[in-house]
Amino acid sequence: MKIATIIGARPQFIKAAELSKGLRKEFEEIIIHTGQHYDYELDKVFFEELGVPEPKYNLGVGSGNHGKQTGKMLEKIEEILINEKPDMVLVYGDTNSTLAGALAAAKLHMPTAHVEAGLRSFDKRMPEEINRILTDHVSSILFCPTETAVNNLKKEGVTKGVYLTGDVMVDLLLESIKIANEKSEIMKTLKLENSNYILLTLHREENTNSKEKLSSIIKAMDKSGEKIIFPAHPRTIKYLKQYGMYDNIDNSEKIKIISPVGYFDMIILEKNAKKIITDSGGMQKEAYILKIPCITLRESTEWMETIEDGWNVLVGSDESKILNSIKKFNPNEKTHKKRFGDGKSAERIVDILKKVMEL
Ligand code: UD1
Ligand code: UDP
Repeated sequence: MKIATIIGARPQFIKAAELSKGLRKEFEEIIIHTGQHYDYELDKVFFEELGVPEPKYNLGVGSGNHGKQTGKMLEKIEEILINEKPDMVLVYGDTNSTLAGALAAAKLHMPTAHVEAGLRSFDKRMPEEINRILTDHVSSILFCPTETAVNNLKKEGVTKGVYLTGDVMVDLLLESIKIANEKSEIMKTLKLENSNYILLTLHREENTNSKEKLSSIIKAMDKSGEKIIFPAHPRTIKYLKQYGMYDNIDNSEKIKIISPVGYFDMIILEKNAKKIITDSGGMQKEAYILKIPCITLRESTEWMETIEDGWNVLVGSDESKILNSIKKFNPNEKTHKKRFGDGKSAERIVDILKKVMEL
């Protein structure tokens, strides 16, 4: 039985790393890489570090407006799926690569499994929310990381093929932390000590595409008086330069802007941070699992459990809310629960696929 895995952006390489290991024991897996991400730090580094198998196809689609990027992917994925005739198409998360993969497969009447199904921020201004809803509604198998996700689908009338599996990112994080402790030199390289810095990442369209919002976030970092470690996404660098804000940050004593880092370095930076400030989906979850307070630069989140348990706070791009949370946001250890699964989600997904595909 053949599974075609479609990936294209950083968090998908990370998620596929975990699941691919189990899948390849039971199925023939071919990887189709859309080429949405292509810089070494956003792409190859994860294949090398995490042992993601070499893609059979790299579509080289690259960057572009949503329609153009998704359209190019759709055309090329369709052609490959027609030739490869997989028994199942597997897509991850909520990027344009996810939507293109699911849509191409559904129109060819190929069964499609969505890993990280059912998540909702209830904000359709986010391109990811549109991708999530559409992908869920054309997929036949929905692997939900949380009960909230299962309930979200139920409210939209989607109940068939829905499985609560937990989150594959938890599996990888739990497995990788020991290796990262041994391999990563990042604390030494950046001369950091435990809890003497705040970790910042930032790449969402809603923040980068507004000069006002980006400048409000950077001002808050400046005024916080904290040492800020900022592995910056190329999208963010592009806009910081365009708005004439990059040189100030680059010359700042307190804000250390660096290139995106690999997964092992990232989880070490997360684990040792005093706080994490981010608009990333994956990092809100990792912060929760590692018990690091998270300040989220968004108005909504699809990871509501982290907010309900008091380990994450939504501040948007509001300077005073960000500053206030940096000073005062201190979660209570007692409210931390086991969310997002037990580290065996990938195993569960492979078992379900075996049953569904009648192996
Ligand atoms: C995409 C996903 C987002 C996910 C993020 C993970 C969509 C709509 N967005 O956002 O959900 O959280 O990936 O990191 O699918 N660029 C480079 N080099 C690269 C890739 C991108 O320089 O290798 C720059 C380009 O200027 C590009 C911009 O980043 O225009 C945005 O890239 P794109 O893939 O469109 O979206 P992301 O912001 O990466
Ligand atoms: N990540 C990484 N290096 C970085 C920034 C993020 O390895 O410089 C990892 C992070 O630990 C998490 C994943 O990338 O596992 C999250 O991806 P991203 O923030 O790009 O996307 P999102 O989760 O918001 O879709």
